[in-house]
Amino acid sequence: MISVLASDPQKNEPITAEKVVRQRPVTVWLTGLSGAGKSTLAIALERRLIGNGRACHVLDGDNVRHGLNRDLGFSAADRSENIRRVAEVAKLMNDAGLIVITAFISPYRADREMAREIIGSDNFFEVHLSAPIAICEQRDAKGWYKKARAGEIADFTGISAPYEPPLNPAASIDTSMVFVDDPLMQLYKILSRSLVKNM
Ligand code: ADX
Repeated sequence: MISVLASDPQKNEPITAEKVVRQRPVTVWLTGLSGAGKSTLAIALERRLIGNGRACHVLDGDNVRHGLNRDLGFSAADRSENIRRVAEVAKLMNDAGLIVITAFISPYRADREMAREIIGSDNFFEVHLSAPIAICEQRDAKGWYKKARAGEIADFTGISAPYEPPLNPAASIDTSMVFVDDPLMQLYKILSRSLVKNM
C-alpha cells in the first residue's frame, strides 16, 4: 500500500509520497553470480540517480547481511528468507517513495518470484547481470571462488550450489567487461525509457 500523506481537496485524490518525490518508486532487482558486478553497478546507478535529483537507496549484502539478516547463512532456506526480508524492506521503501536497487545473488527463480509478488509486479524490474562463471571466477575479488574450489566453503553459488538464470528478465546485461560505465549506461537507458518515467 502507498503511504497517503493528505488529500488534495481540489482534485479530491490522495497525495501520496510518490507524488511528493515526483518519481516512480520502483525496485530494480539485480541478480547474478558473485563477482558479476551487482553491488558495483547498483552503487554507480544510485549515484547517477541521486545526481539527477532522484531519491534512491541500495540494498546489498554489505548493509543487509551484517545487520537485519545477520542470523542467515547460505542454505537454500536461509537464502530464501534473505530474499523475503529484502523484498519486504524494498516494498516499504517503495511505499515511502524511494527507488530501490537491490544487489543479491538471489539464485532461485522461486525466491525472485516471491520478491516480485511482495513488491508488486508493476514495480519489480528484474535485471540479470549475466557475466559467466569463468569471468566471475577469474575476478574473484574476495577470494571466495578459490576457497569454494578448495572445498573450504560449502554451497557456493555456481560451484557447489545452483544459479537459476531468469527466463524472462526485464533486462539482461553482460557485465563481462572490466568497466562499469557501459553496463551503467545500458541500465540507465532502459530505466529511463521504460520504468522511471520523467527522469
Ligand atoms: S543470496 O544467495 O542469499 O542472494 P547474497 O547476495 O546475500 O546471497 O550474498 C552473496 C555474497 O555472500 C557473495 O557475493 C559472497 O561475497 C558471500 N558468500 C559467502 N558464502 C557464500 C556462498 N556459500 N554462496 C554464495 N555467496 C557466498
